[in-house]
Amino acid sequence: SHQLGDNLSAILHTEDELRSRLAEMAREIEVDYAGNPPLLVGVLKGAVMVMADLARELRFHAQMDWMAVSSYGASTKSSGVVRILKDLDADITGRDVLIVEDIIDSGLTLSWLKENLESRGAKSVRICTMLRKPEALKVEVDVAYVGFDIPVEFVVGYGLDFAEDYRNLRDVAVLAPHVYGGE
Ligand code: PRP
Ligand code: MN
Ligand code: MG
Repeated sequence: SHQLGDNLSAILHTEDELRSRLAEMAREIEVDYAGNPPLLVGVLKGAVMVMADLARELRFHAQMDWMAVSSYGASTKSSGVVRILKDLDADITGRDVLIVEDIIDSGLTLSWLKENLESRGAKSVRICTMLRKPEALKVEVDVAYVGFDIPVEFVVGYGLDFAEDYRNLRDVAVLAPHVYGGE
């Protein structure tokens, strides 16, 4: 059914798996925020798919806002210094905020972002991520909702890119190492 082609070596999670896991996460979120829907904050661009699916899965009315961030320096994120390219429209003082992400890799982006939003006086800041690479974490991040823990491989699809490609792939797939010059 799926045509992987030469550049993708495996499907890690199918569209169906992602959607049904997301439904389970939504049920948890509904219980935790009962009567008090959080502001959903998506991190552009990777989070667009999980935001669209999670927001529609949730059985409450939730507002959405977006941030775009980038780490200083072109190639590596190791500094953990993050720059805001597009800030929230909303004032989050006193609000419950749920950050929605596609993946936590080193954790540097999210640990910075969580602290940043907390410093604005949010009532609470929690993180929801579709994917996490536990073995790649460089900093501890308190994550409230995780879809799947995955191995340290280059994954694309469902919002995740390689050089801006593959974001609209419906499944999460492993990029063949020859594409990015891996082993
Ligand atoms: C990716 C991903 C996360 C972040 C995770 O975004 O979408 O936001 O990296 O990495 P970390 O845990 O090591 O900080 P990227 O910076 O590639 O931007 P994008 O979402 O526009 O692809
Ligand atoms: Mn991202
Ligand atoms: Mg990216």
